[in-house]
Amino acid sequence: MTSTSEEFANRVLGSVLGGLEIYSMHIGDRLGFYEELSDGKPRTTEELAAACGTNARYTREWLEQQAANGIVMLDRSTGTDRFSLPEGHADVLANSLNSFYLAPIARMLTTAGGAMPLLLDAYKTGSGVSWARFGQDMREGQADQNRPFFFNDMPDVLAGIPDLHERLSRPGTRVADVGCGGGWGTLALADMYPGASVHGYDIDVPSIEIARKNAAEVGAGPSTTFTAIDVAELAGADYDVVFAFECIHDMPRPVDVLRSMREMAGSDGIVIVMDEAVGDAFNGEGDEIERLMYGYSILVCLPDGMSSQPSAATGTVMRPSVLAEYAAEAGFASVRTLTEAGFFRFYQLMADEG
Ligand SMILES: C[S@@+](CC[C@H](N)C(=O)[O-])C[C@H]1O[C@@H](n2cnc3c(N)ncnc32)[C@H](O)[C@@H]1O
Repeated sequence: MTSTSEEFANRVLGSVLGGLEIYSMHIGDRLGFYEELSDGKPRTTEELAAACGTNARYTREWLEQQAANGIVMLDRSTGTDRFSLPEGHADVLANSLNSFYLAPIARMLTTAGGAMPLLLDAYKTGSGVSWARFGQDMREGQADQNRPFFFNDMPDVLAGIPDLHERLSRPGTRVADVGCGGGWGTLALADMYPGASVHGYDIDVPSIEIARKNAAEVGAGPSTTFTAIDVAELAGADYDVVFAFECIHDMPRPVDVLRSMREMAGSDGIVIVMDEAVGDAFNGEGDEIERLMYGYSILVCLPDGMSSQPSAATGTVMRPSVLAEYAAEAGFASVRTLTEAGFFRFYQLMADEG
C-alpha cells in the first residue's frame, strides 16, 4: 500500500519509537532492572541502582524514559519519585516462563544491531555472520525466546498428533532434538515424556554448554543428554522420533542434516520439523508473520546460514515448497503439514508414501 510522504514519515517515526523501546528494553533486561522491578513494588532511582549495581544518573534517565513510554509507572504519592513495573509488563519483560515473554527478542535485535559492520560486509561479499560471531546474547536470546513455547504450548501441540504422542509416550522411546541450541526443546520433551531418553545435538559448542547448564538448572536426569556435533556427520544413531525445532532454515547444508535425520529415524521412526508458519509464496506486502520473519532473515538467519560455504542460503522465510525440495533431495518420499501453533508450523517428513 502506498502512502503520502507525511503518512510514511509518521509510520517511520513509529518505527523509530519502537526501535528506541527495543534498545531500552535490552538495557532493562541485561542490567536486571526489570527483574528487580518484577515484584511490582515501587522503587526510587537510588534503590534500583543499588540493587542492580548501576550508576544512579543513568538509571534515573532510563527510568524517566521508561515512564515516558508507559513501560514503568511513576508514583509520586509519597513526595518522592518511585517507579514500578505493572504485572502484565513484568510478564513480557521479566517472566521467562510466561507465554508472552519477549525480552529475548530485544536481546537478539540489539545483538544484530551491534554486528552491523559485519552484516554490511557480508552483504557486499556474500559471506556471513555466524552464531559464534554474533555471540552469547544471540544464542541465549534464541533459546530463551522459544522456552515458553516449548513448555507451555508444545505439550498440547504434541498431544494433538495421536501417532506422534503415542510413540513419544512409549517407555524407553528414543528421541533426538537436532539443532537443539540452548536445549529448552530437548528439556521440554524430557519433561513431557519422562519415560523417554532425549538427546540434544548441536554443532555449536557454546550452545551445548548453555544446554547443559539449563539441564542442571531444571534438574534433568541422566536420560537427557547433549552432544556437540554436526548432525550431518552423525552415524549409526537410532531413534524413534527425530525433531528439528526452528533450525533447518538456519543450516548452511539442510539437505545433509535432513538425510542424517532420515537415517536416524530408520524406516519406522518419525521425523518432525518445526519451522516458521510463513505463507506458501512471496507476494509483495506480507502479514505480520512474514514481516517478522523477513526482519529476522535479513539480520540473523540468512547471515548465519551463509557463514559456512557452500550454503543453501535459505533464510528465515522457508516456504513449505522449499522444505519439500530439501526433503526430497534428502530421500524422503513426502512432507505433510501436521498443524500450526503461534509462529510455528509442524511438518512430518515421510520416509515412504504410507
Ligand atoms: C535458530 S537455532 C535453534 C535452536 C533451538 N532448536 C531452538 O529452537 O531454540 C539453530 C541451531 O541450529 C544449529 N545448527 C546449524 N547447523 C547444524 C548442524 N549441521 N548440526 C547441528 N546443529 C546445527 C545452530 O548451531 C543453532 O544452535
